[in-house]
Amino acid sequence: MNSTPHLSVSALIWTGDCLKVLDQRQLPEKVIYHDYHTAPDVAQAISSMQVRGAPAIGIAAAYGVALSAQQHYAENNPDWYEQVTNDIQLLAQSRPTAVNLFWALELMQKALQSQNGNPIPALQALAEKIHADDIAANHKMGELGANILGNCKGVMTHCNAGALATGGYGTALGVIRSACKRGLKKIYAGETRPWLQGARLTVWELAQDGIPATLIADSAAAWLMAQGEIDWIIVGADRIAANGDVANKIGTYSLAVLAKQHGVKVMVVAPTSTLDGSIASGAEITIEQRLQSELLPACYLHENSLVDAWNPVFDVTPAHLISAIVTERGVVLNPAAEGVRSLLC
Ligand code: MRU
Repeated sequence: MNSTPHLSVSALIWTGDCLKVLDQRQLPEKVIYHDYHTAPDVAQAISSMQVRGAPAIGIAAAYGVALSAQQHYAENNPDWYEQVTNDIQLLAQSRPTAVNLFWALELMQKALQSQNGNPIPALQALAEKIHADDIAANHKMGELGANILGNCKGVMTHCNAGALATGGYGTALGVIRSACKRGLKKIYAGETRPWLQGARLTVWELAQDGIPATLIADSAAAWLMAQGEIDWIIVGADRIAANGDVANKIGTYSLAVLAKQHGVKVMVVAPTSTLDGSIASGAEITIEQRLQSELLPACYLHENSLVDAWNPVFDVTPAHLISAIVTERGVVLNPAAEGVRSLLC
């Protein structure tokens, strides 16, 4: 069975007994899917960034739990429940910042606990629902975000918050896709150093849908804003605290500071699975540090090197620098006032 709806770009394809993961490390040169049948393999695909982007990480992990049940459940295996629980813990360690991972695993854990007999059908159905709900949320947010943009002359996005980072359609790129249907003409993408999600993924993904985009060096963003070329910066999120502070790809905070200086507005687009009502502010968000080798030229990667690298891959943008947070449950304008508490259930 293939329950994944047809989309121009799919990061994840579920076949019923296998998760096909588009290897985003190889884009745009190569479009290669790897087949995974176990939770440890899915955890490895997440930590090595074959699949990345907060919602996609959560969806992949949910399928990882379904695969774990398929691998371990058997009436004559008394240890299957413990084995699936261990896999859930392993998946939870794959990346620290995107709250969608922990949200999805908690749902899967609860579903596991509520099963008396064979858990496979329920876990598989729940993973498919998490995936389908994410796509539906993205379409809803696309419309809500495009309503706010109105007649804007240009937008800039950062990182990749598109179909590649979600179940499909995208969060920030969902808004951009919807706005393009209404006449938005000018889209800029920052290259997003050091991993180049913008240069390698965003402009490629938009091109797959026939949407033209202009790539800029991250360091060109201030000058772009000074030219009056954009009205909005539109980004996704990895975790949003109750007060509206937003963790997203490193560089988002700098863009928001620049935006304030130039009268440009910042829109954060994220499903409610990205809201973390358990933390009061962004100060409580764990920021992932990745390997120096993702940043340092190879010649510095030796024991006696005098050069090292600091490689935080997310930052926190304070709510007061954000004009709108768009979720499928509704929009919060000026989140500094009340945070996102009205969206938390
Ligand atoms: O390190 P990544 O590529 O997983 O970081 C992704 C981002 O920061 C995205 O903007 C965020 O996860 C939202 S994706 C809809």
